[in-house]
Amino acid sequence: MSAEKLISLYQSLLDGNKKWVNDRLEENPEFFKELSKSQNPPVMWIGCSDSRVPANEITNTRPGEVFVHRNIANMVVHTDINMLSVLDYALTVLNVQHVIVCGHYNCGGINAALSRTQFGLIDNWLRNIKDVHRLHKAELDLIKDPELKANRLTELNVTEQVYNLSKTSAVQQAWDQDKPLMIHGWVYDVSNGLINDLHVSKSKGSTIEDIYKFDF
Ligand code: CO
Repeated sequence: MSAEKLISLYQSLLDGNKKWVNDRLEENPEFFKELSKSQNPPVMWIGCSDSRVPANEITNTRPGEVFVHRNIANMVVHTDINMLSVLDYALTVLNVQHVIVCGHYNCGGINAALSRTQFGLIDNWLRNIKDVHRLHKAELDLIKDPELKANRLTELNVTEQVYNLSKTSAVQQAWDQDKPLMIHGWVYDVSNGLINDLHVSKSKGSTIEDIYKFDF
């Protein structure tokens, strides 16, 4: 890529921002004035970093409506201080009512975890997905088609991440305090834009294995 092209790509983002601001103000002259006061999003989103899965756009929501955390393959890893901080703030300060883990089919992270290739540092992150595979090996081994196997691992991975959320003290504390909190698992289909609700939602009273339960 020439230096000129490199700069023009960069400049197009800033130009795009100006156009976006003009469009918003045309719709509603008070748009930024209203948003600048505070945020009160009812939803927290844990999604994949994949550029094809922007939380607001695919749910037809606007700035101010979704509190977002994204990482490779939408993981809920209990040692991840970044995810835990976003979750804690969402539950204790913003009082979100829904936390959604949204994976997507054709996820590079899932495909990499299914392979035996070394990718470097990221292998440590992907090992969390390999652990999900080990938990569900019996089911996954029955699926011979590689694409269908990856799709099913994507769904099982989201399901496990929803379960991981329910193991956190932050979520259990919110439920103990009778906050109206639900957690959900979705998979977005990059080939048609539709979200597949896996119907693995959890709320206060949902089954959690005893060993993960905290006393309050
Ligand atoms: Co992905």
